[in-house]
Amino acid sequence: MRNEWLLALLLCGCLGEMDPQPRAARWNRPPRRVPAGSLAVTPPEPRPEVDLPLLRRGQERYGIYCAACHGPLGDGRGEVVRRGFPQPPSFHEERLRQAADEHFYSAIRNGAGRMWPYADRLPERDRWAVVAYLRALQLSRRARLADLPDEVRRQAEERLR
Ligand code: HEC
Repeated sequence: MRNEWLLALLLCGCLGEMDPQPRAARWNRPPRRVPAGSLAVTPPEPRPEVDLPLLRRGQERYGIYCAACHGPLGDGRGEVVRRGFPQPPSFHEERLRQAADEHFYSAIRNGAGRMWPYADRLPERDRWAVVAYLRALQLSRRARLADLPDEVRRQAEERLR
């Protein structure tokens, strides 16, 4: 959990150029199993482990495909919305903070209401990368200094002095 806070803060620029080489955040569940006796089909790609390269990829893809409407901070106030496109909900509202990762994955893959799908532009791994980045955005909004690992907090506090 603590690594997630750290990654979120790093990505969102709150700690500037600092690079304490964070380890991978582990929030993966075990891979899905195909029930015994089912036909052999291509097994689903395992969900990628969340590490810094995946988050950076998600950040980049989010910037390209989502930020225009959802806004760089995920608050639903993107450039396109200011020009009259329907405003999407903020990713920081309680309902979406509580939503499962699959909710976001599915919106990217299948679309959501007036939002069209992005399955053709974002292959499976990129979808998970964007989901991981959305989680980081959500965390960054609520992170407090006290939640950071000691050594990172000290460095952050020095910067704020
Ligand atoms: C052209 C504008 C636009 C773009 C680009 C866009 N969205 Fe959306 N998105 C919307 C709108 C508008 C809604 C609300 C749709 C509705 O309720 O009818 C929405 C809804 C959603 C929801 C569902 C939220 C809920 O209420 O449960 C998710 C998740 C989401 N978008 C994620 C993304 C992601 C991730 C990307 C980038 C891959 C993206 N969107 C790109 C406009 C956009």
